[in-house]
Amino acid sequence: MQKITYAFMALLLFAACAKKEENKTAVVIPGIIPKPVLLTPGNDYIHWDQSVAIIAKSADEKNVGELLAEFLKSKNINATIAEFSDDKNKISLFTVEDSTLHKEGYKLAVDEKGVSIQANNGAGLFYGAQTLLQLIPENGKEIPFVTITDYPRFAYRGLHLDVGRHTFSPDFIKKYIDLLAHHKFNRFHWHLTEDQGWRIEIKKYPRLQEIGAYRKETAIGHAGTAQREGASFDGKRYGGYFTQDEVKDIVKYAADRYVTIIPEIELPGHALAALAAYPDLGCTGGPYQTATSWGVFDDVFCAGKEETFQFLEGVLDEVVELFPSQYIHIGGDECPKTKWEKCPHCQKRMKTEKLKNAHELQSYFIQRMEKYLNGKNRQIIGWDEILEGGLAPNATVMSWRGEEGGIAAARQNHDVIMTPGKWCYFDHYQDTTKSEPLAIGGYLPVKIVYSYEPVPSQLTAEEAKHVLGAQANVWTEYIPTSDHVEYMVYPRACAMAEVVWSPKESRDYTDFLTRMDTHFKRLDDWKVNYAKHIQKEIDSLNLATKK
Ligand code: ACM
Ligand code: ZN
Repeated sequence: MQKITYAFMALLLFAACAKKEENKTAVVIPGIIPKPVLLTPGNDYIHWDQSVAIIAKSADEKNVGELLAEFLKSKNINATIAEFSDDKNKISLFTVEDSTLHKEGYKLAVDEKGVSIQANNGAGLFYGAQTLLQLIPENGKEIPFVTITDYPRFAYRGLHLDVGRHTFSPDFIKKYIDLLAHHKFNRFHWHLTEDQGWRIEIKKYPRLQEIGAYRKETAIGHAGTAQREGASFDGKRYGGYFTQDEVKDIVKYAADRYVTIIPEIELPGHALAALAAYPDLGCTGGPYQTATSWGVFDDVFCAGKEETFQFLEGVLDEVVELFPSQYIHIGGDECPKTKWEKCPHCQKRMKTEKLKNAHELQSYFIQRMEKYLNGKNRQIIGWDEILEGGLAPNATVMSWRGEEGGIAAARQNHDVIMTPGKWCYFDHYQDTTKSEPLAIGGYLPVKIVYSYEPVPSQLTAEEAKHVLGAQANVWTEYIPTSDHVEYMVYPRACAMAEVVWSPKESRDYTDFLTRMDTHFKRLDDWKVNYAKHIQKEIDSLNLATKK
C-alpha cells in the first residue's frame, strides 16, 4: 500500500515537474530593436513586485544607473542606486576589463540571482540598460530569464537633423537625442548653419544672431524653378538660434547618453545667412538676405579674401570650445562656382596658389580649414563634393549623392560615412499615394531603409575597413514642426538602427516587422509621433500566422 502511495506520489511529482518544465520553456522575449547579436532565452521569469536596487560604484555605473532608474520609473518600477545588495531584486552594473567584450558591447544576464549587465565602459552598460528596458513587458514586472551578448557592427551610427531650414526647441533636440540613444545610435550630426538661417550663437560675430538667424518670410509650397520665379511667401518673419548655454547643456545631455554631437558649419556654400550678416565675406560684397526659399544659391563665401578665413576661424574657435567631438563637419556640398569665376579676389587666389580650376579653389578652401582644425586636434568630415579638386589629406567623407563618393574615398585610404540618398534620406516620401504631407521628393519606405548595406560590394576587405558606418539625414525644408520630424524619422530610424548595429547575417525584414509590432508600443510610451505605414505589413503577417 505504502509502496503504491509512494509510486503514485512520485508520479504526481513527475507530472508536476513536467508541467513546470513545460511552463518554464515558455518565456516570451519581447522583440528587441535593434536585434542583439546573441540571445538565449531562459526558462523562468523574475517577478519585480517591490523596489529594485541598482548596484553601481564607478561614475559610469552610477550615470547609467541613474538614467536606468528614471526609465524604470516610467514603467512604475521604483529603483534606487546602492553599492551593495543581497536581495535578488537587483540590477548589477559592472564595468569590467574584458577583451572578449566589444568596445561598446555588453553582456546581459537575467536569472534567479537578478539582472547583471557587464561592459568595458559606460556606453556598453548604457546599451545593456536599453536592452533591459525593452525586455520589461508592458504590464511591468515580469522579466524573462535570458542571456544576451551584444555589440555594434559599426562604430559610427548616426542620425542627422537640419535646424537651418526649420528650427526646433532645445527640449525637442533632447528628445531627439533620447530617441536615438534608445536605438543605440551614438552620433548626432547637428546641421547648424544654412542659407535660410544661422542657428548657433557665436559671440565674436553678433550679427550672425541679429541678422543671420532670421529670414523675412518663408516660401509656400514646393521649391523648383517655377516656384522661384512665381513664388508666394507667408509674410512671417522666421528664425531663432541656440545660445551657447543651450548648446553646452545639450552637448552634456548627449554625452550622458553616450552620444557624440558632430556640429556642422557649412562652407563655402549654403552660406547666405552668414553673408546677410557679414556681406564683405561674399565675392560681390552684397547686399544679401537670409534665403526665404529652398535650393542652392550662387552667393557663397569668397575664397579669395583673407577676411573669409579669419571669420571662419573665429567661428570654429568657438565651435571647438563648445563641442568636444573629434570630428567637426565643414559641409562642402553644393557650392556653385559662378561667383568665384568672376571675382577678382578669387581669380587672384587661383593665380597665386597655382590652382587650375574652381574645383581646385574649393579644395584649397577645404584644405585650409582642415589644416586649421587639425591644428586644434580635430578632424574634418565633408560631404562627398570635397573629393572634387583633390581631397584634404585627413578628411573623412560623407557619401550622400550615392555610394560612389564613399567608394572613391575608401580607395584613397580615407574614412567614409555612408549616407546615400536612396536609402538614408528621411526627408523623402514614405508612400506613393499622394496622401503624404509635402516632401522634397523621392520614395523611401521602411523596407528599403532596412535593405541598406553600408559596405559597398565593390570594396576589398581592406578598403571596407574605411567604412566607419552610416547615417540617416533629415533635411527640414518641408518639415516645419517637431511632430512632423518624428513622423519622418520613426520608424525608419528603427530600421536604420538595425542596419548599423546588428550583424549583417541576422537581418530579416519579416522578423523585424514582428518585433516592430512590440516596438510601436515603446514608441507610444516615448510619445513619438511615428508613421504607421508598416502596420499594414505587420497586420498581414499576424493574419498569416493566425491562419
Ligand atoms: C546634401 O544633401 N546636400 C548633403
Ligand atoms: Zn571671391
